[in-house]
Amino acid sequence: MAASHVLSIDAGTTGITVLIFDQQGRIQGRAYSEFTQHYPRPGWVEHDPNEIWSVTQKVVATALHEAHLDPANLAAIGITNQRETVVMWDRRTGEPVAKAIVWQDRRTTPLCEALKARGLEETFRHRTGLVIDPYFSGTKVKWLLDHVDGLRQRAEASEIAFGTVDSWLVWKLTGGKNHITDYSNASRTLLYNIHDLQWDEEILQMLQIPPALLPQVKPSSYVYGETVPQALPGSGGIPIAGIAGDQQAALFGQACYGEGLAKNTYGTGSFVLMNTGKEAIFSQEKLLTTIAWGIGDDPVEYALEGAIFITGAGIQWLRDGLGIISHASETEALARSVETNEGVYFVPALVGLGAPHWDPYARGTLLGVTRGTTKAHLARAVLESMGYQTRDVVEAMERDSGIPLKVLRCDGGASVNRFLMQFQADILGVAVEVPEITETTALGAAYLAGLATGFWHSREELDSQWQLAHRYEPTLPESERMGLYHQWQRAVERAKGWAQE
Ligand code: G3P
Repeated sequence: MAASHVLSIDAGTTGITVLIFDQQGRIQGRAYSEFTQHYPRPGWVEHDPNEIWSVTQKVVATALHEAHLDPANLAAIGITNQRETVVMWDRRTGEPVAKAIVWQDRRTTPLCEALKARGLEETFRHRTGLVIDPYFSGTKVKWLLDHVDGLRQRAEASEIAFGTVDSWLVWKLTGGKNHITDYSNASRTLLYNIHDLQWDEEILQMLQIPPALLPQVKPSSYVYGETVPQALPGSGGIPIAGIAGDQQAALFGQACYGEGLAKNTYGTGSFVLMNTGKEAIFSQEKLLTTIAWGIGDDPVEYALEGAIFITGAGIQWLRDGLGIISHASETEALARSVETNEGVYFVPALVGLGAPHWDPYARGTLLGVTRGTTKAHLARAVLESMGYQTRDVVEAMERDSGIPLKVLRCDGGASVNRFLMQFQADILGVAVEVPEITETTALGAAYLAGLATGFWHSREELDSQWQLAHRYEPTLPESERMGLYHQWQRAVERAKGWAQE
């Protein structure tokens, strides 16, 4: 049977997507399933690693079935994942020792404050490219070691493995043979030196994290191992050949291979990444310097990243929290039903603010409400906030890199919203392009896996598969653009620090 397809597992924050691609990069099979979100206390977010795994198994089987394909038709598997989320398990039994602590979880805010008070911000930034914030894995690992009974001793005795969700899935897929991650995921842990490409011993000591916990770090496109039959029934021996954090995978899937090319993915949050090539640009603007990928033995490539915590989740809040819409797509018509925002601004700091503000104490703020304000204004304010936040990070990125953005490639769920895409182009003053395939995260992981196994041969070949679906040109007069953005900046200042008292 011909190995004619590549299967991609996108293990996201709210669910698992599996897509199956043919040689032309066309989607031939798909399946998706959500899994449970646990909120045990305000500000805490957890996942059950066993559920992530069982849902993954189910979704892989469904996607294969839908595509009328057999595991034997798969040339390779690529994995991409919600980043930073911490899973820890027993190496002997493969059982998780606790629920996974999700990237959105804020429980380590006091620990981060203590590290900042020790004046360690610059040290962490220079070595890891990251800022000290509960977002990243390192302080979450320490929290588990400090709070789960006996865990630190077991970790020191090499009985425990830590990994991000990619590591966990590879461990399961290979029947416990491989404990690995890739450069892009390692670069989100706050424990990895992105210049030396090593776990940073001093940082590990500062956070009291035993090195025995850590996975081996591998390239993002590389044959790591093979699936075992008990992992995916009927599927022994499929090469696992691509791993990347979801935002880096999306950059790859968007064919942003040249320096200065950038993409924005609208998911729970939004993540703007600009390829900076072989140079790790140190941000003066509190953006993140991160590893984009490493392809085989080639030198790693870097990106600048603006991580925005809440964009799509703001729409979800309109639907599930407020109940003023029943489907996300309604926001487009609602937003268009009013001619302007009429002064209503929403700062979606629901879990604090990420780049470039980094304020864990900021909270959601609604401003400019009058008696005439309706749910249409609210929907518009939520959509506009996605555009303004993107401008915040794009401006910072331009200052950092010295590269003016020519076009922003957009993807992810909300890229189908034409009001949002037009507003994004307008408020940036830069064209926005949306490709035919907006599931660029899964596509990127498939590309990485296919490159390692010879299914695809070069980035030029992949680049030629990128096809434009829509281009949005900026049309807003400069004065309006400036006026709107100025008000947004005032609103952000009001949201900051709210939960600090
Ligand atoms: O850094 C967090 C990011 O990887 C999560 O992405 O798409 O699962 O919300 P997503």
